[in-house]
Amino acid sequence: MIRKRTRTRAGGGTPAHGRLRAVLGATTTALLTVTALAALPQTTAHAAGTLGAAAAEKGRYFGAAVAANHLGEAQYAATLNREFSSVTPENEMKWDAVEPNRGSFSFSRADQIVNHARSQGMDVRGHTLVWHSQLPGWVSGLGASDLRSAMNNHITQVMTHYKGEIHSWDVVNEAFQDGGSGARRSSPFQDKLGNGFIEEAFRTARATDPAAKLCYNDYNTDGVNAKSNAVYDMVKDFKSRGVPIDCVGFQSHFNPNSPVPSDYRANLQRFADLGVDVQITELDIEGSGQAQATNYGNVVRACLAVTRCTGITVWGIPDKYSWRSSGTPLLFDDNYNKKPAYDAALSALGGTTDPDDPDDPDDPGTPGAGCTATYTTAEQWGSGYNGKVTITAGSSPITGWSVDVTMTSPQKVLSVWNGSPTWDSSGNVMTVRPSWNGSLAAGASTSFGFTVSGGASPPPQVGACTAS
Ligand code: XIL
Repeated sequence: MIRKRTRTRAGGGTPAHGRLRAVLGATTTALLTVTALAALPQTTAHAAGTLGAAAAEKGRYFGAAVAANHLGEAQYAATLNREFSSVTPENEMKWDAVEPNRGSFSFSRADQIVNHARSQGMDVRGHTLVWHSQLPGWVSGLGASDLRSAMNNHITQVMTHYKGEIHSWDVVNEAFQDGGSGARRSSPFQDKLGNGFIEEAFRTARATDPAAKLCYNDYNTDGVNAKSNAVYDMVKDFKSRGVPIDCVGFQSHFNPNSPVPSDYRANLQRFADLGVDVQITELDIEGSGQAQATNYGNVVRACLAVTRCTGITVWGIPDKYSWRSSGTPLLFDDNYNKKPAYDAALSALGGTTDPDDPDDPDDPGTPGAGCTATYTTAEQWGSGYNGKVTITAGSSPITGWSVDVTMTSPQKVLSVWNGSPTWDSSGNVMTVRPSWNGSLAAGASTSFGFTVSGGASPPPQVGACTAS
């Protein structure tokens, strides 16, 4: 059985985490702020050092898809527990897992994940109630009226079992076709019950757990296109007729053939403008190195730019367990080292890797060595801005530093001061090293600046500081 908890979040965008670090970021009352600051003074002195903590400071969650059979692996559990504030069971809540035979429910694998999450103060996304895939054969064999009652019973049983445990449910997953038709995808539900099955599923879900946010979730809907237009029209119709829907999930599986769309943020925003939350639900981006890092930074910044984008979930933890492992699409390599994509995601969230974090597998291991880089936009005008990066030495003196700064094309750096840049072949990434200001006493700071033309936004992506 699942341990119940008292729901403390009343439908807002900020999940209620058990951890003080998360509460600190999500705090809305002055009184609680003062109490929290008094309890954890050092938390405010440094930028957050994990994805979950940095996202919480922006009032958002940062989650991962989790597989129950990896929870026993020490490094897997340690990385999950350290970095993430929400989990999605990768397969364990799907229909074939929880109701393999009609009316016979098996929740043990999913419970394992939910219990783990709860013991760590993490929230849980429910995935997924009604989907054409990973659907047991007995469901597809039913006639219309049996199928309708089986669907409603499935929703009711599963949501009742997890009532109070799930911040958002993917009620219906992938009901639209790819391509330009904007049509619904053929499935047992669509073919036998017609368009109305989606609405019926949402109404049943609301009646079962009125506190859970109810999402429609899909892929290839990340930019403005025929498929996302069709989903948009459905959500608009639901809102106008009072059909209960609270959120839209954007799976965000990206690769060179399906890159992060340039209108990603605008697309999230137009859905938010319909009066629903938006969530990035299954993020993975095939690639490596700086190119992958830049994409991750852009996705995180797009979510932060949309007030109703309430959280991001990456579809796995280390590359080796990804459903697309050959594309190395995640934030951690096979040995749980943080990839450049991790640094980019963390820095886009406003966090900074603590160079002396003993939990950090990338830690150079020199006590007190290291530096941090923090970015501010000093001035901004119609077509550009002046950026400033402040470098601060850790608890030991340093004699040199370097920081990667990535611009989004067509932005270009016109000049750099108090730092000496070199450029990668794309011309978008400059590595800045000291000009005269390499030696810093312990805890001391210096800064360099630069002028960018070709657009006042987005701000640059500033990587981690490397000390020497
Ligand atoms: C994938 C899982 O990652 C795989 O382990 C499984 O074999 C197939 O499903 N869209 C979704 C997810 O909504 O549930 C899918 O997850 C990936 C695509």
